[in-house]
This record gives sequence, C-alpha cells and structure tokens, in this order.
Amino acid sequence: MEQRPIVASRQQPVRAGRRQAVIEARKVAVLGAAGGIGQPLSLLLKMNRMVTELALYDIANVAGVAADLSHCNTNTKVTGYTGAEELAGALKGAELVVIPAGVPRKPGMTRDDLFNINAGIVKTLCEGVAASCPDAIIAIISNPVNSTVPICAEVLKKAGVYNPRKVMGVTTLDVVRANTFVAEAKGLDTKDVDVPVIGGHAGETILPLLSQATPRVQFSPEEAAKMTERIQNAGTEVVEAKAGAGSATLSMAYAAARFAESVLLGLSGEQDIIECTYVESEVVPGFQYFASKVRLGPDGVEEFLPLGPLTAFEQEGLEKMKGLLSKNIEAGIAFANK
Ligand code: NAI
Repeated sequence: MEQRPIVASRQQPVRAGRRQAVIEARKVAVLGAAGGIGQPLSLLLKMNRMVTELALYDIANVAGVAADLSHCNTNTKVTGYTGAEELAGALKGAELVVIPAGVPRKPGMTRDDLFNINAGIVKTLCEGVAASCPDAIIAIISNPVNSTVPICAEVLKKAGVYNPRKVMGVTTLDVVRANTFVAEAKGLDTKDVDVPVIGGHAGETILPLLSQATPRVQFSPEEAAKMTERIQNAGTEVVEAKAGAGSATLSMAYAAARFAESVLLGLSGEQDIIECTYVESEVVPGFQYFASKVRLGPDGVEEFLPLGPLTAFEQEGLEKMKGLLSKNIEAGIAFANK
C-alpha cells in the first residue's frame, strides 16, 4: 500500500534535509475545536501520523465534530470534551495544546477590538493548562496574538510553571501568505519560497523580510512597500471577502497544522526545524515579545535565531512597529495581573 505522508498540509520544507517518518505517541489538544479554525485544523491533525491522540475541547458543538472526525480511517484517536468541567480531561497528558478559541474579526474591526472577549478566554484556558499539563507546549492562535501570548505567559508565571521556550504565538499564516504572494509575484513555485516574517501579528507589527526570501528575489523599493502592505493587510482582505462571516479559517488551519507538525518534529528530535513564532525573547532589544525565526527541539524553542541583516525599509518597519507592539504587550500583561 502506498505510504501516506506524515501530514497533508506542508508545502515548503522548513529544514534542509529530508524529513524522517517519526512516529511516537503524541497527544495534542485543540481548545476551540468546534470553530471555523478548530474544525479544519482538527481534520489536518487527524491526518498527521505523529498525532496518536487528538483531544477536542470547546464550550459547545464539539461532540459532533469529534464523532465525525473519529470515522476517518487514520490511527489518531479522537475524543471530545465539552465545557469547563471537561477541560482537565482534554488536557491531561497533552504535549501540545493549540488554542484557536475566541471570537474572530468582522469587517471594520482590528485584532485589538477582540481583546475584551478573547483575553479572558485565553486566560482561563491557560489556567487549565497550568493545572493539567504544565509541561505542554502551547501554541496560541486566538487574537490579538500580540497580547494573548503575554497573557498566557503571566498566567503560567503566577502558577510557577512558565517556560518561555514553550509558549508560542502562531504567526505562521503571515509566513504562508508571504510565501504565496511572493511566489505569485515572481512566477516561482510556491513550495520553493520561504519568506521570514517578524515582529507580531497585527497591522504594521507584521514585517516580512523580503530581502531574506529564499530563493533570493529582487523588489524595487515601491514593490517592496506594496508587497509588505499586502501581507500586513491579508487578514483584512479575507475578513472583507467573508463580509461578516468571520476571518481566515482554512488558510489559518493549514498554517497551524504546519506549525503543529514542526513542533512535533522538534519534540521528536528532528534536526533543523525552523519556524517564525511570536515568543518571549531577547532577539531584539526593547521588545519583550517578538516573532522571529526559532529552531524547534525536544524542549520547544531550542535556539532564537538572529534577525540577520535588514534593508533600510525593513529597519524602518521595525522602528515603526515599536509603539503598537509595546502597547499590545503591556495590555496583555496588565490584563493578566489585574
Ligand atoms: P470561531 O468563532 O469560528 O470559533 C471559535 C471557537 O471558540 C468556537 O467554537 C467557540 O465555541 C470557541 N470558544 C469560545 N469561547 C471558548 C472557551 N472559553 N473555551 C473553548 N472554546 C471557546 O472563530 P475562528 O474563526 O475559529 O477564530 C478563532 C480565533 O482565531 C479568533 O480569535 C481569530 O481572531 C483568531 N485568528 C488568528 C489568526 C492568526 O494568524 N493567529 C488567523 C485567523 C484567526
């Protein structure tokens, strides 16, 4: 019989060598699994041979999603958990917890407008992680990521279980979008393109490093500005096209499945697994949290990679994001500690 790939989601390699077929027992929990992102993400994780157990948690409608997915003939065991009293069961033994719980944007909203609702949701869920699986890696999708990651970190600090190498904001969709748009603009095969995206995950805090794209591509200053703006506003493009029915779900699920796979490969000891992610780091002085390239390993982030040389335009972008990113970080920290 034909060998099934580890996961159907990955297009571009994130490491130099060929991936081994690593199969170990891994429990992954998805919190917010019945939502627009949660459902397709859970499907992709059900197709990942590294995920032996998939725990789906939501406050509603998750039993049906779990029953539905459980009929796919892959070896991943799927279980559903509904409501706060079942959260601990979903989390027990999880090595990776992916959090897409919370409300998405509607036209005219910024990611910051979601803060009031999503901050509380993420705080509660992270308290659950601290109590039930404090060693797990947490991948946060819920917006505003610039603030929800610091919220998670503060919750774990309070519980005495914080490990900055294990709390990651999922910014992979920005990379996926940058790869797609650059490939389209330059007539390249998308699977060959890799563009690092640094900073955060909102408006001008999203900074693609076009000068570091692989393969090398040339953009005039005008083209670079236009491409950067398109990548920064790509989420809004989807929000407007969906006209009130939510924000990116399918591309986000694709991106999160790629990120989850990278985390699991790192946990399994695979070498050279590189992703951009929003983490507490010292890569850029003055930014307590920052999205940049990291090397993933058995304990989460193994190494924070340096930014590398920036063009004047990129340097300017870095300066420009300072105010907003700092404000987002402070808001998260203040919320968690109030
Ligand atoms: P959705 O509304 O379709 O689904 C959210 C799910 O979360 C629902 O099933 C809901 O029942 C559940 N939920 C709400 N409160 C919960 C709680 N306390 N515990 C567990 N589950 C809870 O929203 P969608 O489209 O799936 O988006 C989810 C989040 O992802 C939003 O905050 C959105 O802004 C964010 N997002 C992040 C992206 C990124 O690049 N990081 C990209 C796109 C969206």
